[in-house]
Amino acid sequence: MTSVKIPDAGGDTLTFLQIQGRLYPSFPPEAFMSMNTFKMRRDDVIVCAYPKSGTHWVWEIVRMLQAGTTEVEPAEKDDGMMELFDQDHFDQLPSPRVLNSHLLFTQLPPEVTQKKSKLIFLSRNPKDLFVSYYHHHTGLADLYNYSGKWKNYLPLVLDGRVDYGSWFDYMREWEKAIQNNPDVPVLSVMYEDIKEDPYKEVRKISDFLGKNYPSDFLHRVCDSCSFSRMREHKGQYDTSPDGLPVMYRKGQVGDWKNWFTVSMSEWFDRVYVDKMEGSKLKFRYTLED
Ligand code: A3P
Repeated sequence: MTSVKIPDAGGDTLTFLQIQGRLYPSFPPEAFMSMNTFKMRRDDVIVCAYPKSGTHWVWEIVRMLQAGTTEVEPAEKDDGMMELFDQDHFDQLPSPRVLNSHLLFTQLPPEVTQKKSKLIFLSRNPKDLFVSYYHHHTGLADLYNYSGKWKNYLPLVLDGRVDYGSWFDYMREWEKAIQNNPDVPVLSVMYEDIKEDPYKEVRKISDFLGKNYPSDFLHRVCDSCSFSRMREHKGQYDTSPDGLPVMYRKGQVGDWKNWFTVSMSEWFDRVYVDKMEGSKLKFRYTLED
């Protein structure tokens, strides 16, 4: 594994860790390397998503649903991030654990398929996601050391030369994995659907977890996990050089319109058609779609 600097189209670089030809954030590499021996528990749930899909949001929702209360211990999503800590860290976490990962299905521990762990697969429309990833990469200055321009970043992210690789490849790999592993319980949820009707989606997740909560509790989970509440309570964890919360930036559907020019959007659409040929996935780019 090596630390690499990847240049964007304007020559500004992002710092990543390269392991077996793939790019990752510069985390201690031990956890990546020991994923094969990660010990799953029967009642573990993993929130799986490409970065910037809303992982923090859904992780917190699932934590409250698993705990049966909105008064959960304050914790950062990273505490449950499988590729960040070693087994000792995860052994200390009380059951039921709510884990999360940005890894591909095939990179998850083999015990996930053996023990048929419950997976919640979260996705988000890639235009908003790429804008969010741009702010993540410029905002987390200690991790990426990047201050490039959006117009120079877009070619890089479309080409998948970022941590966790290409969004297109990630989505296609997961789509295939879900099809090919029908005995692994996977619930697919979408960022835009949760934005549109949080109660409906939180109920869906609650049902998937085998819970039978009254509607007032589910409403309280939605409220406690609203963007403004989470930003207020957790916004201080990761801040950009200008002091803004990176993980709770805007929390909207359609912010991409403020960033993509018409020609960028048309270019994106062509790349999408090319890379996602044959995929059945459909994304909503506004809540009117
Ligand atoms: P934006 O940068 O578009 O605001 P992840 O958790 O996977 O890193 O994703 C982060 C994105 O999810 C950010 O998107 C963030 O604002 C958004 N997000 C976080 N909490 C949210 C919430 N409670 N409701 C809606 N969006 C949320």
